[in-house]
Amino acid sequence: MSVLRSLRAALAVRRIPAVLGMWRDFRPFVRLHFLAAAFECGLLRSLRTPSTREELVQTLAVRRPELFDALLDLGVSLGELSLRDGRYALRGGRSKLIASDAGDPFAALAQEWVRYDNAVFRDLPPRLQGGPLGDYLGPTATIVARSSRILEPFIAAFIRELVTRRRPRRLLDVGCGSGAYLIHAGLADGDLTGTGLDIQPAVVAQARANVSSRGLAERFDVIVADVRAPPSSTIRLPFDLITLINNVYYFAPDERPGLFARLRSWLTPGGALVVVAATRDGGATIRAFDLVLRSTEGCSPLPDRGALSQQLHAAGFSEVRWERLALGQPLDAVVAT
Ligand SMILES: C[S@@+](CC[C@H](N)C(=O)[O-])C[C@H]1O[C@@H](n2cnc3c(N)ncnc32)[C@H](O)[C@@H]1O
Repeated sequence: MSVLRSLRAALAVRRIPAVLGMWRDFRPFVRLHFLAAAFECGLLRSLRTPSTREELVQTLAVRRPELFDALLDLGVSLGELSLRDGRYALRGGRSKLIASDAGDPFAALAQEWVRYDNAVFRDLPPRLQGGPLGDYLGPTATIVARSSRILEPFIAAFIRELVTRRRPRRLLDVGCGSGAYLIHAGLADGDLTGTGLDIQPAVVAQARANVSSRGLAERFDVIVADVRAPPSSTIRLPFDLITLINNVYYFAPDERPGLFARLRSWLTPGGALVVVAATRDGGATIRAFDLVLRSTEGCSPLPDRGALSQQLHAAGFSEVRWERLALGQPLDAVVAT
């Protein structure tokens, strides 16, 4: 009898809690991959309007309908999609979030996990034996710039308050990514002007479009440049405030004093350099991020407060003030003057 046989098979399993735990873990893994793929192929955005399979096949230019059917079935089985009267619709909270404009950082983070962080774990065994670090940044640059915005609620509140308090006239945002913080700063103070700078041309194009869509293109230019070797003609000095947000780990610890000193020389007297970064003392997600950074060509481990303070002092800043930006999470800002 099949019930008896499967019962006997289940009882023969050793370490039952661990086995059950593993089965449970596979489900969120599958969900994350479904969400990333369904977002990337346009399915989730299309389903903002409930649609039939045929409509979806046409809109998304699907050439392998059997494969697409399997994706739809998976979505329904995960509870992310519903199928009623021949029409698919968004059902799960996560797919609804990711399909919305406001949920884009979560869409990007799912994409980042599938495309970039997965590869870090996949390639770890040969890397432990001395294999080369990963060159992940170029191909995922625009995804990383979007996923970084997951921290925006915490950082934006800090930037807006900082700008209102210090009233800088000119701002430089180094490694500006999406341009989100130029926008927050610009909206907090209508007289502020400045520059965003990023090394990745595709990211700069994204930032320019974002800045312009908020009507701030006249006040903020965004340029392609490596802050380590910026063409002097493209940056109009000096600035009252320079920000380095979520990117200090792109610079090796031993090059930071030199970089900070250069940025300090671009400041007006009394101006401030602000570094925002996740620092090392966090839980599993932060530890995973640290592992990703250590596996990536051109990146350094997450910083700790003490070392970063020393690097800022070595660059000539006399005062460094730390602030925690997220309750219970190691996301910190340091204001150096
Ligand atoms: C993780 S993203 C953060 C973007 C943005 N600051 C934010 O918090 O949303 C880091 C950004 O720094 C840029 N970047 C890295 N190294 C750089 C360099 N040497 N000069 C200029 N930009 C750089 C990357 O291209 C990327 O867009």
